[in-house]
Amino acid sequence: MNSLIIKNATISTPLGRSARKGGQMAHLHTIENGAVIVKDGIITYVGPMSDMPAVENPENYQVIDAAGRAVLPGFVDSHTHLIFGGYRPDEFEWRLKGDSYMSIMERGGGIQSTVNATRGESVEALAAKAQWFIDRMVRMGVTTVEAKSGYGLDTETELRMLEAIDRLAQDPEQKLKVVATFLGAHAVPKEYAGRTAEYVDMMIAEMLPAAKGKARFCDIFTEKNVFEIEDSRRFLKAAREAGFKLKLHADEIVQLGGAELAAELCAVSADHLLHVSDRGIADMAKAGTVATLLPLTAFTLREPYAPARKFIDGGAAVALATDLNPGSCFSGSIPLTIALACIYMHMSIEETITALTLNGAAAVDMADRTGSIETGKDADIIILNYNNYRMLPYYVGMNCVRTVISRGRVVAEND
Ligand code: NIG
Ligand code: FE
Repeated sequence: MNSLIIKNATISTPLGRSARKGGQMAHLHTIENGAVIVKDGIITYVGPMSDMPAVENPENYQVIDAAGRAVLPGFVDSHTHLIFGGYRPDEFEWRLKGDSYMSIMERGGGIQSTVNATRGESVEALAAKAQWFIDRMVRMGVTTVEAKSGYGLDTETELRMLEAIDRLAQDPEQKLKVVATFLGAHAVPKEYAGRTAEYVDMMIAEMLPAAKGKARFCDIFTEKNVFEIEDSRRFLKAAREAGFKLKLHADEIVQLGGAELAAELCAVSADHLLHVSDRGIADMAKAGTVATLLPLTAFTLREPYAPARKFIDGGAAVALATDLNPGSCFSGSIPLTIALACIYMHMSIEETITALTLNGAAAVDMADRTGSIETGKDADIIILNYNNYRMLPYYVGMNCVRTVISRGRVVAEND
């Protein structure tokens, strides 16, 4: 049943069909004693219970009594590396003992180690493993997830990863929306060691045409000793010409100018940004490129958090996401993301909610369909265990989500 009525709801939602920037991020529209009517997965009414219209054929509607609980849009995890073979707990321990993320990568570990493990996996195995993570994400309130390729680094395996993502997305039983990103430019594979420009040439000639139509976005790890600015610009321009929308892993480990490049190319988002320059922040605010911040990665790598306040106070749109991956950040915890954003990145609770809902939707170019509770949008909605959304960061690292509704279907009940 994809038609339902939520009554006695304390509804809070950002409003709009595009990212909220700067000061707008703190504005949530709240309705006490509210109701939401959903017909065939689409929201047809949001407003006070007292004004709620009668529905035709009420027997076709499931009725959920929220009993005054907080009702929010479903969360959008707009940056994950959900598809991968193997795990890397050994590297995690090396880092605990003082090794750096990049030094492990430079010795042939890191991303290349997951590439070795992923090349041997079938589409079925990759999709089944990812589904296990999806089922856990959904219970934390995620109703849209972005998933990247990028552990193949050869055409065949990159396509296999995109096929696994497509299987997840097309599964009629799937509990959330899945958005695909092609990340063939995640690292220079060992076969091309020392020949970065040739790998970029190969991606442009072979991978981009093969991945076309199979992913909405093209992403790149723009980083010192990986793909530097000139290679990134050349690759991203080719991707844009091939019809991809653009994302960048930018200024994650060192300040390289990835944010400026993202703005120059009108990328939909630039992500990480731990070491972004003031100029990069200003350029992104002006270009409307969403700053997708990933506090779990900074936490895991013991790096400084991205300057969320500078972005918001500078008029930019900030999204938050988990970066779930087997290396730099093996966590998909939405509760911990919320806590870190509020405690260490000094985002208000309202800004954090906007960043995880409407701005996350904008970061995957889906703000017209999801990310807020508004008439005409998909009914991607969560009900918390508490009457007040302000419990979210206060209950540190713990799940406050009770019921998860995805396109009008209840997909998780935690209590
Ligand atoms: O977003 N830095 C590049 N990519 C990922 C990490 C991937 C990995 O370590 O496997 C990131 O941090
Ligand atoms: Fe990432």
